[in-house]
Amino acid sequence: MASNPFRPEEGTNSLDSEFLRTTWLYGRLFQDYSIENQVHYAPCDQHEVERNDIQHNLLQRVFEGRLIFPPIARPRRILDCGYGTAGWASDVADQNPSCDVLGIDVNPWQPDTVPSNLYLKVDDLNRRFTFDSHSFDLVQSRMMASGIHSNRWTDYMRDILRVLRPGGWCQMIELYYNVQSDNGSLTNEHALRRWSRHYIESHAGLKDLGVPFRLEAMFRAAGFVDVEHRMIQLPTCAWLTDERNNEIGAAMSENVQRMLSSLAVYPFTAKLGMTPEYVQDLVKQARAEARNPGYKAYFPLYVCIGRKSRSRSRR
Ligand SMILES: C[S@@+](CC[C@H](N)C(=O)[O-])C[C@H]1O[C@@H](n2cnc3c(N)ncnc32)[C@H](O)[C@@H]1O
Repeated sequence: MASNPFRPEEGTNSLDSEFLRTTWLYGRLFQDYSIENQVHYAPCDQHEVERNDIQHNLLQRVFEGRLIFPPIARPRRILDCGYGTAGWASDVADQNPSCDVLGIDVNPWQPDTVPSNLYLKVDDLNRRFTFDSHSFDLVQSRMMASGIHSNRWTDYMRDILRVLRPGGWCQMIELYYNVQSDNGSLTNEHALRRWSRHYIESHAGLKDLGVPFRLEAMFRAAGFVDVEHRMIQLPTCAWLTDERNNEIGAAMSENVQRMLSSLAVYPFTAKLGMTPEYVQDLVKQARAEARNPGYKAYFPLYVCIGRKSRSRSRR
């Protein structure tokens, strides 16, 4: 049992029925709160739960089993912003039994079992953080660009910095949804590129899907030090020649095939006015192109870490 559990009332608002209501749209289940408040447009059904697990397992393969990138010897408190299906948060809690891990998500979904040192709470990260200052050794924010409002990012970074202990770290991982081709064979007319364009268009003015390649600048602007970043190609299928990357490609293929449909259903119809039939057809073509190794298609994944200065006086 962890020594310093989070009290249920600490740091967030209590679970409100507004987070529990859901609606079926175009054959998928969506959270009313997320749709009404334009928080994020992904479904919240079993199919999406499975995709989140597939994505977590894929990322574990990509990162060779590493969950925490900064050099943190014995973390005592960790915050996971947008825990999804709690794959990362559960693994971190299991590997660090003397650390309290707090996961926040707008969706009240919880796994059947959670480690005793993992605390999952419902809240909207677009609201200002109410956690105590200087209280976490690590804050992770992974795949959150479609859930954080464009005009929230500056304060989101400041909030994360504030709640970190002096010397604590933030790690952010973001996928850039504009699909690329390693041999330049994908044109703007290809369905995969049209899917990307429409996905970005459907979030325009509300979400900043260009955040992934500005992570380093955002960390520095917020006041983080020792900032490091890198880009990793996530192939849409197994087109790379070495064994490791081929395995990643095969795992990514399953995720991409599901993602192309899941993420398009609501924004392409409700925001861009496409018919469900048109969306289905576009997704079908995009899936076929994603499976074609000849295009050498990939989604860029950006990883960035940064440390809060050790001197309290600076922040
Ligand atoms: C793409 S999933 C990523 C899940 C997890 N971070 C991972 O990488 O496995 C995004 C998650 O963030 C949640 N989310 C999106 N916007 C949010 C917000 N404004 N506040 C809280 N949770 C949010 C969604 O409900 C979803 O579970």
